[in-house]
Amino acid sequence: MTMPPPLLTATFLLLFLLTTITTTTTSQESDPELDCTNKWIHIRRLPLQFNLDLLLNCSQYPLFDNFCNYLTNDGLGQKTHNNSHSWYRTDPFMLELIFHRRMLEYPCLTSDPNLANAIYIPYFAGIDSLKYLYGPQVNSSFLHGLDLYHYLVRMDTPSMWQKHFGHDHFLVIARSAWDFIQPLSNDPPIFGTSFLELPEFYNVTALTFEARAYPWQERAIPYPTSFHPPNLAFLESWVNRVRKSRRNALMLFAAGGGISANPNIRRSIRLECENSTSISANGTGYDKLCEFVDCSNGVCEHDPIRFMKPMLQASFCLQPPGDTPTRRSTFDGIIAGCIPVFFEELTAKKQYGWHLPEEKYEEFSVFVPKEDVVFKGLRILDVLMSIPRSEVRRMRENVIELIPRIMYRNHGSSLGLRSKKDAFDIAVEGTLQRIKSRIEELAAQ
Ligand SMILES: *[C@@H]1O[C@H](CO)[C@@H](O)[C@H](O)[C@H]1NC(C)=O
Ligand SMILES: *[C@@H]1O[C@H](CO)[C@@H](O)[C@H](O)[C@H]1NC(C)=O
Ligand SMILES: *[C@@H]1O[C@H](CO)[C@@H](O)[C@H](O)[C@H]1NC(C)=O
Ligand SMILES: *[C@@H]1O[C@H](CO)[C@@H](O)[C@H](O)[C@H]1NC(C)=O
Ligand SMILES: *[C@@H]1O[C@H](CO)[C@@H](O)[C@H](O)[C@H]1NC(C)=O
Ligand SMILES: *[C@@H]1O[C@H](CO)[C@@H](O)[C@H](O)[C@H]1NC(C)=O
Repeated sequence: MTMPPPLLTATFLLLFLLTTITTTTTSQESDPELDCTNKWIHIRRLPLQFNLDLLLNCSQYPLFDNFCNYLTNDGLGQKTHNNSHSWYRTDPFMLELIFHRRMLEYPCLTSDPNLANAIYIPYFAGIDSLKYLYGPQVNSSFLHGLDLYHYLVRMDTPSMWQKHFGHDHFLVIARSAWDFIQPLSNDPPIFGTSFLELPEFYNVTALTFEARAYPWQERAIPYPTSFHPPNLAFLESWVNRVRKSRRNALMLFAAGGGISANPNIRRSIRLECENSTSISANGTGYDKLCEFVDCSNGVCEHDPIRFMKPMLQASFCLQPPGDTPTRRSTFDGIIAGCIPVFFEELTAKKQYGWHLPEEKYEEFSVFVPKEDVVFKGLRILDVLMSIPRSEVRRMRENVIELIPRIMYRNHGSSLGLRSKKDAFDIAVEGTLQRIKSRIEELAAQ
């Protein structure tokens, strides 16, 4: 990919983003059925240093990729090819921008904070964290967020924070919570900022890709995939393709790593997969038992074709934990109708309760405890082959039903597609509900 020169990029971004970020309401085709009771959201106005300026610096974060190209199409990235309508080279870190863009077309926005049930902070927390995580301010990572806090409680609008002491505020962090829980006492810090450790932000709801095991102030929401259809017809034609796709591999593993000598689940999967060529697939209905897609060195990150095609052709997608328990691949696999196989509950079941209901896991996924594979020699192939074909079909149908709930549809989608709740809609609904019960609890105290 060729990068445009920085000045050109900056101008380009200014043109396309300035209007987006500085407006707080956009026109909506109004829906006469719309009832905004308990759903009003106010977007706080922030100085540009908390959002737009961070994007303009997209080529200037040392030790981190130049991410200017991923900002295109309001954070969806470039199209995979010129005539694509639904497929983009989406970088998950851009969810802060994608979410903000979607917030602007949220139908129940109010400019009056006193009427609002929740207050959205359009702060790009993950992008702002880069200078602490990989930049010159690595030793001041305890400062991350303090400027923002001082702005939020400043004297000219103090009532907005004080009305509920920040309990009605929420923001998006397009990273794992683990990157933000550096104890304030670590000097110098080991890794991560202390954003979620600051008492100043304890009351604010943070939407992240991965939450800590115990419920703190953050909640997990899906990673964005590369699929962002603009209308129902494009969604339906994809779903039909997924449904009809011939699944010639039993299971698929798409990942980098897993080659370390120490026992771990990724290594066990690689070995089992390599070894599976020696096992006959005769009579299984599959041409091969295990497909491995090598995503080493980040080659898959902005190239969804590499893994989406194989995922369409596999019945099961293996989703082992890596550096942290969650993976974007969980959602890519669901988009492809590939039944997820989880190895620990923190990968999804204990994370995405709003989007993937906890009580439904047996109907759309398989659970194989990683200890049984790594230390007790359990073969994943044997577990998956023992599932009757009718059951596999039923599970796949349940996975397909989840597609609309976990995808982030295109900005400005058609009314028809907007009538289906997507990952953004469900996240906002969950946030409003959580804030409502918190405020009720506080009032009862
Ligand atoms: C953007 O980069 C410039 C130059 O490196 C720096 O002075 C400025 O503080 C940065 N702005 C933000 C919002 O990080
Ligand atoms: C895609 O569009 C760009 C700009 O319009 C053009 O430069 C490029 O050649 C096109 N690529 C293909 C494969 O058509
Ligand atoms: C951060 O602190 C460590 C240990 O005190 C030091 O070695 C390092 O140079 C500092 N890094 C920066 C960017 O100041
Ligand atoms: C958070 O809420 C509690 C009440 O639940 C309040 O005492 C505290 O001051 C609030 N924190 C901030 C930073 O506003
Ligand atoms: C590979 O397959 C052979 C023969 O089926 C088996 O004996 C061996 O234990 C397998 N190795 C691994 C690492 O699964
Ligand atoms: C499996 O299929 C191959 C050809 O696809 C055939 O040569 C072989 O005999 C078959 N083995 C069994 C056990 O049916």
